[in-house]
Amino acid sequence: MSDFNDHWLALRASADSAARADHLVATLGSLPVPAHGGLKVLDLGCGIGANLRHLAPLLAAAGHAHQQWTCVDRDSALLARLPARTHAWADARDLACAGTGAGLHIQADAWQADVAWKAMDLAVDVNRLPLPAGGLVTASALLDLVSERWLAILLRRCRTAGCALMLALSYDGRCGLSPAHPDDTRVIGLVNRHQRIDKGFGLALGPGAAATAGHRCSVLGYRVRAAPSDWHIGPELAELQRVLLDGWRDAAAQMADADAAGWLDDWHAAHLASIEGGTLQMVVGHMDLVVLP
Ligand SMILES: C[S@@+](CC[C@H](N)C(=O)[O-])C[C@H]1O[C@@H](n2cnc3c(N)ncnc32)[C@H](O)[C@@H]1O
Repeated sequence: MSDFNDHWLALRASADSAARADHLVATLGSLPVPAHGGLKVLDLGCGIGANLRHLAPLLAAAGHAHQQWTCVDRDSALLARLPARTHAWADARDLACAGTGAGLHIQADAWQADVAWKAMDLAVDVNRLPLPAGGLVTASALLDLVSERWLAILLRRCRTAGCALMLALSYDGRCGLSPAHPDDTRVIGLVNRHQRIDKGFGLALGPGAAATAGHRCSVLGYRVRAAPSDWHIGPELAELQRVLLDGWRDAAAQMADADAAGWLDDWHAAHLASIEGGTLQMVVGHMDLVVLP
């Protein structure tokens, strides 16, 4: 079990896809193409497989026409949704997608991918991750949950195994709401403190995740490329806005003094009215990183 559910992950998928710094993925074309079996990819905290579905066609366009994906998450309920979500995605694009017993095989005109998935607690098993030597380790919307110590172990192991990394959509602490409310800064400050609470890996890196990862990778001798991947969420994604607003209110309430209920409810009600009036614009800062050995 985790704090994430199928509904939330599906809801955020279109904002994620629109935000991602896809131009960074082209640099992964410089990874050697293995003679047999194609590029091996390990997706950490894969949820229902959004990162696989976003990245596989881009990796193909970068020259990796054959890919072998292993997707891991500790939440078996989310993993159980991955095949159906991937079948639906493939159907919508006229790609062949077939169960193989052990996983899925996706066949496009110009590329193919074998996909396996596995339940694993990354916090416990960081030293036992099936790192793909010379391949790619990826994660989307995971890095801000992990601790600095956990990240240091992962990056050292990746460097030793010669893995590249593609770390997408790490929240970086920037949030903007328009029309603004006088308490926005206060609420976002509390939300950002909440981001650093232990999410199962020790004290979380939260908004500092991408900067810390970039720095540590440079020290390890990786070439690091970073680019913003901010969410721009307008009225057309009103349900995502509502869920996000509720989440921020709840996170801020956990971090605030006992007398916060009044002003926090007023803040929430003001922005909810903007959502219902179709006028709210939200920006949520994220960073994407690609690092190459
Ligand atoms: C924000 S979601 C991102 C999911 C997916 N990568 C995406 O982009 O839609 C974070 C994911 O990390 C997983 N996760 C959190 N802690 C974990 C842990 N200790 N071990 C394995 N997975 C974990 C959650 O179950 C969830 O699926």
